[in-house]
Formats: sequence, structure tokens, C-alpha cells
Amino acid sequence: MTLSRKEKPDEEAPAVQLDSVALRYEQGPFILKDLNLVLPADSIRFLTGPSGAGKTSLLSLLYLAQRPSLGAVKLFGTDVTAANRGRLPAIRRKLGVIFQDFRLLDHLSTFDNVALPLRIAGIAETEIKENVTELLSWVGLEDLMETRPAVLSGGQKQRVAIARAVVNRPQLILADEPTGNVDDEIGMRLMQLFIELNRLGACIIIATHNEHLVSRFDFPRLSLADGCLEEQA
Ligand SMILES: Nc1ncnc2c1ncn2[C@@H]1O[C@H](COP(=O)(O)OP(=O)(O)O)[C@@H](O)[C@H]1O
Ligand SMILES: [Mg+2]
Repeated sequence: MTLSRKEKPDEEAPAVQLDSVALRYEQGPFILKDLNLVLPADSIRFLTGPSGAGKTSLLSLLYLAQRPSLGAVKLFGTDVTAANRGRLPAIRRKLGVIFQDFRLLDHLSTFDNVALPLRIAGIAETEIKENVTELLSWVGLEDLMETRPAVLSGGQKQRVAIARAVVNRPQLILADEPTGNVDDEIGMRLMQLFIELNRLGACIIIATHNEHLVSRFDFPRLSLADGCLEEQA
């Protein structure tokens, strides 16, 4: 595929940029107030703050589920709040999202849930089998590849959701409480996966209220409190 000049990705552009972003739901109070942030493409950050602080709301602006009430959200140099809708699918393809509530497809097996983004992208089945099998082994689900989500535990579903989110090698990974349902050992293994993907060049934001997890890694932290975002090295 050849990209026209206009669509050529700007390698130097930050993965994420927030310019005076604010968010309120309907006429309610501002949940996010005047957020400003620049994250280079190879960043890895924890997004912390107590329950209700607005972590999921902030991620939802980044995965384009909603628009900010004020300000601009820029992904890979494109202002997604102003961009014409036709440009959004190309940006969405660069995102890998791990939802707090997993959002797996119940009628598909573990393997097929994880394979879906690759099938949509038109990847050959032999390559899909190789990639999906390797990733499912990494997250410890090699024996559950033919199982449907309904009979998986919360922690197993979470691991399927993570595998599905990263199988396409996204450039920006947004993980909402990705270790919320797994024990410490699997949590550490999942964190190793994020670190490896970051080493390969992905920008990763991990929202969590698990201080124990945060204390075990020295990633810079974005901390939300009273609607404001503070960056801590
Ligand atoms: N769809 C919504 N409509 C109205 N209020 C919402 C909605 N989603 C979240 N909120 C409110 O926004 C605040 C932040 O929520 P959330 O982003 O889920 O925080 P966190 O992920 O940090 O727990 C909470 O007060 C929550 O009740
Ligand atoms: Mg949340």
C-alpha cells in the first residue's frame, strides 16, 4: 500500500496530545478540567487516581468513544476532535483497547476472539494461527483456545481481552485496569507483555487504582485528582 502525502504518518508526532481538554456529562460537573499532556510515541505511563477520578473517561476520549466538551485531543499528530470522520478509521486501527468490562464476543471461541482483528485486517490464516497461538501461550491460555467466554473466569476473560487488544501490534495501547481480575503472578506476566510491546515501540497507558502494582514499576505516572492531571516522573 502506498500512502498519499497527506496521509503519511508523522513519525515525529506525539502519540497523544491533550490541549486544554475538559469533559462533563450532559450538564453535570466537569469530570476532567483543563488537561494538557504530550506523550511521545515510545512512552509508557500509569494513569492513577481513586475510583471515580475519571480514568475511564479520559481513556474513552483517547479511544474515540466520545469527544471532549472543551479542548482538543490529538493522536499521532491528527486533531481527532476536528478531523473529518473519514480519517478516524485509520487512527482507530492504530489503537489497542483493553476495556474494564472486557467486551468479548460470546459466540466466538477464545482463539476466534483474539484472531478477529487480524481477520478484519485480511491477514492470512497460517499467520493468524501462529500469532494467536503464541500470544495465547504467553498469557497462559493455550489450553483454553477453543473455549467460549461464558465459561471463562474473570481473570481468563481479561487475558483474552488483552491478547485481542495487542494482537494487531497497535501503536497506542489503552488498558483500563488490565490486571484487576488476575493474581499477582499473572499480573506481573501481563505487565511484562506491556513492557515488551513498549520496547517494540508502542505507547502504553495503563489505568489502575492498584498502588501495589504501581509501586513495583518505575514508569512515570499520570495522576488524576479533582479533575486535574498531574505528571510525576
Ligand atoms: N456515561 C456517563 N454518564 C454520566 N456520568 C458518568 C458517565 N461515565 C462516568 N461518569 C461519571 O464520571 C466520573 C468519573 O468516572 P470514571 O471515568 O468511570 O472514573 P474512574 O475510571 O477513575 O473510576 C464519575 O463520577 C462517574 O460517575
Ligand atoms: Mg474506571
